[in-house]
Amino acid sequence: MRILVTGGAGFIGSHTVDALVATGAHEVAALDDLSSGKRERMNPAARLHHADLRNAAEVSGAGNRPAVGIESKSAIADTT
Ligand SMILES: NC(=O)c1ccc[n+]([C@@H]2O[C@H](COP(=O)([O-])OP(=O)(O)OC[C@H]3O[C@@H](n4cnc5c(N)ncnc54)[C@H](O)[C@@H]3O)[C@@H](O)[C@H]2O)c1
Repeated sequence: MRILVTGGAGFIGSHTVDALVATGAHEVAALDDLSSGKRERMNPAARLHHADLRNAAEVSGAGNRPAVGIESKSAIADTT
């Protein structure tokens, strides 16, 4: 399953990315504007899309449509 974690370079988001990658069952990507997040936190197995979640043009350029989007501040959205 393709999963996109918003805020994925942040504290909670980066741990969420790590946990999802560790399952070995998912293609994991993160979307983050790096306003407080850090590129160094990113799991090397996950792609980072540097984009502002509020900017539709930037978000639509963030790769293939994920099956599931996880917002790092706890909300989970099924986008299928
Ligand atoms: N224990 C520690 O070492 C530690 C470290 C950092 C944070 N914390 C705690 O964790 C909690 C916060 O963690 P968090 O993960 O919710 O916050 P966070 O700031 O770490 O993560 C939020 C992420 O969202 C990104 N972001 C913000 N606005 C965005 C936008 N418009 N578009 C795209 N990305 C955007 C930021 O760049 C950041 O990477 C706080 O309680 C904080 O005190 C603890």
